[in-house]
Amino acid sequence: MNDPGKNIESVLTENRQFPPSSEFSAQANIGSEQQYMEMWTKAKDDPSGFWGELAKENLDWFQDFDTVMEGDMPETKWFTGGKLNASYQCLDRHLVGPRKNKAAIIWEGEPGDQRILTYQQLHHEVCKFANVLKNLGCETGDRVTIYMPMVPELAIAMLACARIGAVHSIIFGGFSADAIADRNNDAESKLVITADGGWRRGKEIPLKANVDAGLEKSPTVEKVVVYRRTGGDVTMTPDRDYWWHELMDDVDADCPAVELDSEHPLFILYTSGSTGKPKGVLHTTAGYMLGTTMTSRWVFDYKEDDTYWCTADIGWITGHSYITYGPLSNGVTSVMYEGGPNWPDEGRFWQLVEKYQVNIFYTAPTAIRAFIKWGDQFPNQYDLSSLRLLGTVGEPINPEAWMWYHKVIGNEKCPIVDTWWQTETGGIMLSPLPGVTPTKPGSCTKPLPGVVPAIVDEEGNPVEEGGGLLVMTQPWPHMLRTLYGDHERFVDVYFSKFNGKYYFAGDGARLDSDGYYWVMGRVDDVLNVSGHRLSTMEVESALVAHDNVAEAAVVGFPHELKGEGICCFVTLKSGDGSDAEKEELKQHVRKQIGAIATPDKIKIAPQLPKTRSGKIMRRLLRDIAAGRDVSGDVTTLEDAGILDKLREDD
Ligand code: WT7
Repeated sequence: MNDPGKNIESVLTENRQFPPSSEFSAQANIGSEQQYMEMWTKAKDDPSGFWGELAKENLDWFQDFDTVMEGDMPETKWFTGGKLNASYQCLDRHLVGPRKNKAAIIWEGEPGDQRILTYQQLHHEVCKFANVLKNLGCETGDRVTIYMPMVPELAIAMLACARIGAVHSIIFGGFSADAIADRNNDAESKLVITADGGWRRGKEIPLKANVDAGLEKSPTVEKVVVYRRTGGDVTMTPDRDYWWHELMDDVDADCPAVELDSEHPLFILYTSGSTGKPKGVLHTTAGYMLGTTMTSRWVFDYKEDDTYWCTADIGWITGHSYITYGPLSNGVTSVMYEGGPNWPDEGRFWQLVEKYQVNIFYTAPTAIRAFIKWGDQFPNQYDLSSLRLLGTVGEPINPEAWMWYHKVIGNEKCPIVDTWWQTETGGIMLSPLPGVTPTKPGSCTKPLPGVVPAIVDEEGNPVEEGGGLLVMTQPWPHMLRTLYGDHERFVDVYFSKFNGKYYFAGDGARLDSDGYYWVMGRVDDVLNVSGHRLSTMEVESALVAHDNVAEAAVVGFPHELKGEGICCFVTLKSGDGSDAEKEELKQHVRKQIGAIATPDKIKIAPQLPKTRSGKIMRRLLRDIAAGRDVSGDVTTLEDAGILDKLREDD
């Protein structure tokens, strides 16, 4: 286990409860425990009836589906026979009523520039860009890589892909050229959509230059579209690279949404696993759209005049589901911000909350810990009274951070929804319903309707008390369908542990006597750095690709801001590792994977602690990285003297 011990201890002592106010419950989309229990029980006992009715009411169909669900997990197909389009669902159907001229996206760039796109304007841009894609030879089913800053054109590009049935694969702008190449190659992308650059803490991120370097190693890509954001210098390769604005000049806005099968792939999103290359998580149209539409309405309690802000980057699943597809399908006004939270100063988020009168605010524990560190004077300078609901996602939230969020940001009146889910689950799985569930700081509380989790031991037996593995016992519409190009790996990674009976994606959790879930963290070799998944193995491969590295082992350690930091134990081929060489290794990993994977600590090891059979003893390395006494059995260690040497190098 990735040392969940520390979390378990802190959550076990957490007894505070915060029920929603009666005013909040009275206006909530789901307003009573009874209503929740009825929905949950119906979804569990009659999933076809439950999801089928919701799909009829909440999705726009070009052709009705024949069957709600077909086949057992992991091969369940949803809404077969039906035809729909995700871009139509997010745009066209809002144009016939009062939402036509309502703000869909309120955008602010880091330098302070602003744009507002109404549903009608967004529709217009999406239709035009869909025609651009067609002119570039992009067809239904083709894969398109998107590597962009947080500008409205990112949402436009994804919805334009969805409109013609091209499958988008978005790569977070913090990833490196090598990471772009790997993902292009795995998806066999035909087209890349990027920008000259984007702004982050006053600096320009050179997106186009990264794409250029990546394309040297990704032969399937034929064309590149470049959106001009920063005005920085870029090299345009003739007959390959085209400016967004020039292409948009040549097209009209007439582009009917393609009628796609329910199970047509909507997107691929790469995420880290404990072994092998990143996994191309594939989501399909109808199930994903129903899941994100319903979960966002239930959990964020959307009302017609809400201003909603999710601070994630669209390059992660949170941004796919809860900046683009969920909110737009509900016709909500979504705020989108390009840059860093501490630019030009640490009050930027709160300045935006005041300026746009944000009502619903969704962020990550890592950000909350940074706000706490920066000091209350920043939020206290602004009027945050518009806020009515707060959310978190990405990692377990420590009760102290929860309490700070509750008091300083929520003024003790906003429910907090701690939402547990994953790239693979497509949408929120465990979360309070803000008008129903009394919250406990640090717990993601209960399953949403349609989610039937369990805590089991290694053999799959239910665990009544104490911790175990968190599994899903029933399929849900918005679950991943496969890992792109490798269905065998999909079955193996998520379903083989319990012989196909349960979905398991790597988290440990415990259930308390009130039936609340407390997620303790990963149980595999996956790090959770600032709410983002990184595999220890990927960082290790990056390290051993360096000329002077003989062997490397990477572990996480508790980090005040990031949740988990990255500690690398490295055996060199020559030399004993100067500070300059350690810095070089950090930069090397950064270049290979991206800034998010930059190691926090490099420890030079004359050799790595191994068992007599040659397995690296990661448990010991985790203790050393965390500065703890080495616990447990060390008798199988080949050379016991090695531990002291590792501890010395700090
Ligand atoms: C992993 C999924 C889902 C969007 C962001 C991350 C951890 C996520 C919580 C939470 C405790 C959480 C889990 C999960 N996680 N939300 N509320 N409480 N842990 O997506 O990169 O697919 O990572 O993030 O460990 O497995 P992801």
